[in-house]
Amino acid sequence: MDLKSLIRDIPDFPKPGILFRDITTLLRDRQGLRYTIDFLAEKCSEATLEIDYVIGMESRGFIFGTPLAYKLGAGFIPVRKKGKLPAAVHSIEYELEYGTDCLEVHRDALHPDSRVLIVDDLIATGGTASATAKLVQQIGCELVGFGFIIELRDLQGRKHLPDVPIISLVEY
Ligand code: PRP
Ligand code: HPA
Repeated sequence: MDLKSLIRDIPDFPKPGILFRDITTLLRDRQGLRYTIDFLAEKCSEATLEIDYVIGMESRGFIFGTPLAYKLGAGFIPVRKKGKLPAAVHSIEYELEYGTDCLEVHRDALHPDSRVLIVDDLIATGGTASATAKLVQQIGCELVGFGFIIELRDLQGRKHLPDVPIISLVEY
């Protein structure tokens, strides 16, 4: 299936000069949605990624991470932006274009022996995925790979990620 044809391009969003890849048009397409999750699961199986948990980043990582976890027979763990999780958290700060941001995960969600796959809708600069990788590695988890629907190759985000399998379904 041609996933690119289901992803809508929106010029000048959220700022002039940015061509935004909009996944809402893919999500609303029943065949496209099913194919996307099945294809990502198949690629994870091909790479023989044995995992306990899928980690998804707020908010679009939740949309793809949860059905993928279901399909792989794994649990799902949300990584959220600062102040959203109710119990004790591990936090990591990371650099944005202007300023910093912070991601958090529940302290009791992960254990040092957990095998995890990090999933998001898109990798651009790699800042979000790399911060999440550091967060889970600080806890001592085994990071087995990354899964993205979209990879923006020009931004070279994968260069900032640790040396584990990186799966992406669509490249721009
Ligand atoms: C987007 C996207 C990734 C991240 C990719 O999320 O869903 O999480 O940016 O960019 P990076 O590789 O440069 O870090 P955003 O922070 O816009 O949050 P949202 O999912 O809540 O829209
Ligand atoms: N599309 C969607 N989300 C994004 C993009 C994009 O082009 N760049 C950074 N986050």
